Amino acid sequence: MTATVTTDRLTVTTDRLTRVPGLLYGGDWNPEQWPEQVWAEDVKLMAEAGVNLVTVGVFSWARLQPDADSWDFGWLDRLLDLCHRHGVAVDLATATASPPAWLVRAHPDLLPVTADGVRLEFGSRQHYCPSSPAYRGAAVRLTRALAERYRHHPALALWHIHNEYGDHVQECFCPDSAVDFRRWLRERHGGIEELNRSWGTAFWSQRYTSFEQIEPPRTAPGPVNPTQLLDWRRFCSDALLALHRAEKAVLDEVSPGVPVTTNFMSMLKALDYWEWSRHEDLVSDDAYPDPADPRAHVNAAMNYDLMRSLKGGRPWLLMEQAPSAVSWRPVNVPKRPGLYRLWSLQALARGADGVLHFQWRASVAGAEKFHSAMLPHRGTAARGWQETVRFGAELRRLGEIAGSRLRGRAAVLLDWDSWWALELDDHPSARMRWPELLRPWYAALHERGVTVDFVPPTAGLDGYPLVLAPNLYLLDTATADRLTAYVRDGGRLVCGPFSGIADRHDHIHPGGHPGPLRELLGIVVDEHWPIPDGETTAVRLDGTAPDGPRSDGAEPHAEPHGADLRAERWSEWIETEGAETLARYASGTLAGLPAVTRNRLGAGTAWYLSCHLGADTGRVLDLPLAEAGVGAELPDLPADVEATRRHAADGRQYLFLLNHGGVERRVPLDTPGTDLLTGAATGDAVTLAPLGAAVLRLPAAEERP
Ligand code: GAL
Repeated sequence: MTATVTTDRLTVTTDRLTRVPGLLYGGDWNPEQWPEQVWAEDVKLMAEAGVNLVTVGVFSWARLQPDADSWDFGWLDRLLDLCHRHGVAVDLATATASPPAWLVRAHPDLLPVTADGVRLEFGSRQHYCPSSPAYRGAAVRLTRALAERYRHHPALALWHIHNEYGDHVQECFCPDSAVDFRRWLRERHGGIEELNRSWGTAFWSQRYTSFEQIEPPRTAPGPVNPTQLLDWRRFCSDALLALHRAEKAVLDEVSPGVPVTTNFMSMLKALDYWEWSRHEDLVSDDAYPDPADPRAHVNAAMNYDLMRSLKGGRPWLLMEQAPSAVSWRPVNVPKRPGLYRLWSLQALARGADGVLHFQWRASVAGAEKFHSAMLPHRGTAARGWQETVRFGAELRRLGEIAGSRLRGRAAVLLDWDSWWALELDDHPSARMRWPELLRPWYAALHERGVTVDFVPPTAGLDGYPLVLAPNLYLLDTATADRLTAYVRDGGRLVCGPFSGIADRHDHIHPGGHPGPLRELLGIVVDEHWPIPDGETTAVRLDGTAPDGPRSDGAEPHAEPHGADLRAERWSEWIETEGAETLARYASGTLAGLPAVTRNRLGAGTAWYLSCHLGADTGRVLDLPLAEAGVGAELPDLPADVEATRRHAADGRQYLFLLNHGGVERRVPLDTPGTDLLTGAATGDAVTLAPLGAAVLRLPAAEERP
């Protein structure tokens, strides 16, 4: 019965998900909201749509355990049997995300408390304190009961722990949290004097003489100690992870061989997903790009690249997306015809091996009754249902791509610790927020068709000709040494502003910014010069020619030289210490000073952008891209067309071409292939309708004509 968990593919066990050949399709199914007669119709319609995996039980705790000492599994037994009879595999939730009323009333102290001391009430979901022993005990008990009952059920394919850790409640300031925080601090710092040094408590008379004096950073009269806040961020991610690990340990013990996941929430500040993903057998993600945002697909691509990167490029699962509109934005615009299909294909294009939804059948009651579903309120006559069925059929044609992988051509460094520290208060500017700093860099790469991987600061970088670090505010010397060695050995590093500022205690690296990056970058920062809201500073590229070949064979970009760019949010007064100046400030107080520099070190180069260039970022990034020989997945990509390539173990490639624009596009091809969506052989180009897509199977290199 027991099989090996090999999460290289979603066919993660030899006897379970292998029963689900090809790609996964389905969604959250909440059968407890419906009379059982409806279930029969559900499974019939699932077959029509090609649904092969459903997530059940996510919010079933109150139904499964009506009170402390009684259990009601009968309905779930019947449901899993029904799924099995109809060939639908089950992603079974541990049901712990919404503790029932009886538990809350028996242990009112498990409800979370805000920084202002308000205890949040029952009546929504996720109402628990991450450090509550009562909540944890009950959650682990429920998990064990489910695992023991269903571990051998033939429908069980995947365990789904909890739901979206960090959704609604990311922190709790109650006495239980205070106790847990103190325990965590003792483990991290050892003694109180070490904590005093780390937190810099000589400042404002904040010295502690015992751990018992320490509280969570509740609302205080003025700015709270920044290292206390940083440790709090770390603790809150760890406290939720401890809960997750407690459930995971039960599943690993009772139900070995069945893979386990929990649904992530894309690039979420609250949880250090590098650390979390170490405990997942499979990464899964919930993604809700806004159909009203014409650039939403760029952000989505970024999130999908992160999900793929969390486990080193292994296929991941889109656990939830909306078939059309959500119900939680102020204005919930549906997906216009074709958008659902295109965005679903985009997840596959970036490494997902399945597309699941919230939810299967639209609810008629509760807070999400206006949320779209695969099966809308109108039933099978609805446009949404037609799209569900059509896309299910298309997915079956794409089955062979399961397990294939993308290869990033460059790496983007992402460090949650640095993100948390960057966004603490009382900095030179509150406008330096990680997602907003990252987005223009990512958008520039996306626009140029360059596939990137995200990497943690501890990653080996050898395979990447180019590493991008839009911000490294918090940087320990070990990471700086690794980056320096990478450049000396021939790598190319591009570093964004306000980097190399603080150590892991959030203490400034003394002796001039950017601290441990100073020699590597060949510059020193004299003063930070944030740009007021609504203002910009001109930056002029000097015209230094890039000196490397491009991998796509195209000529290096000539256009950016001599160009005028605009910095926003941030600039710096810097002086060079060996670096050459590639761009200078051309207006304001800093006019004439270096803005963008390049330093040669060993066999490589290290670039520094001392300002935030917003929409103009790509015009600078063109230079290191050219120098590193990093080009597009496909040359001459028309505007709005996204191209990615998945590589199969046998050498075949799958080229995804997605037209996010409103006009037809012709995409020239270097190799003819077969469009898996239509079965048609392609010539030297593919024409994509507005919102159109193609998935081309290209033969292995040795089989090409
Ligand atoms: C997710 C959540 C689902 C559902 C969905 C609605 O964040 O996991 O349970 O609420 O949002 O968009």
